[in-house]
Amino acid sequence: MNKIITNSEQETFNWAKNFARCLKGGEIIGLVGDLGAGKTVFAKGLADGLGVKNTVTSPTFVIMKIYNIKNQKSKIKNLVHVDAYRLKSEKDIIAIGADEYFERKDTITIIEWPENIKKCLPKKTIYIKFKIQKNTRTIITQN
Ligand SMILES: Nc1ncnc2c1ncn2[C@@H]1O[C@H](COP(=O)(O)OP(=O)(O)O)[C@@H](O)[C@H]1O
Ligand SMILES: [Mg+2]
Repeated sequence: MNKIITNSEQETFNWAKNFARCLKGGEIIGLVGDLGAGKTVFAKGLADGLGVKNTVTSPTFVIMKIYNIKNQKSKIKNLVHVDAYRLKSEKDIIAIGADEYFERKDTITIIEWPENIKKCLPKKTIYIKFKIQKNTRTIITQN
């Protein structure tokens, strides 16, 4: 378990951007934490680190957004950003076709509220927990 504390949105963004460097392709990352915990901020930082040029916004209403990565040097070609907040079961995620991206070698998948679709997520899913304190966030990774 690894625990870090960030003191601002920018710090969380930067931490995620840095975290993106150790991704190889095919990873699924579940972001666990309450509303306002910084999950979307993390997704934005990760996207930046992966070389996504588009503006990343919360997919709460559309459920899933796919960003293209046009970096010749990287094997990672897509970032899939899912917000499962409004989903009730695995069936919903299968209905929108998100599961087709899971584990694709050229894709990183990031999922907010993974608890809602836990059954269809692979065992190797990397879970990151966010805890809210007043002006800080504690980010807990598995190793
Ligand atoms: N240390 C921090 N890390 C990330 N966000 C923070 C931090 N401190 C305050 N915030 C604020 O908390 C909110 C996090 O929003 P967001 O990332 O959309 O949350 P979530 O997606 O988990 O619902 C933002 O308004 C951000 O400015
Ligand atoms: Mg969010």
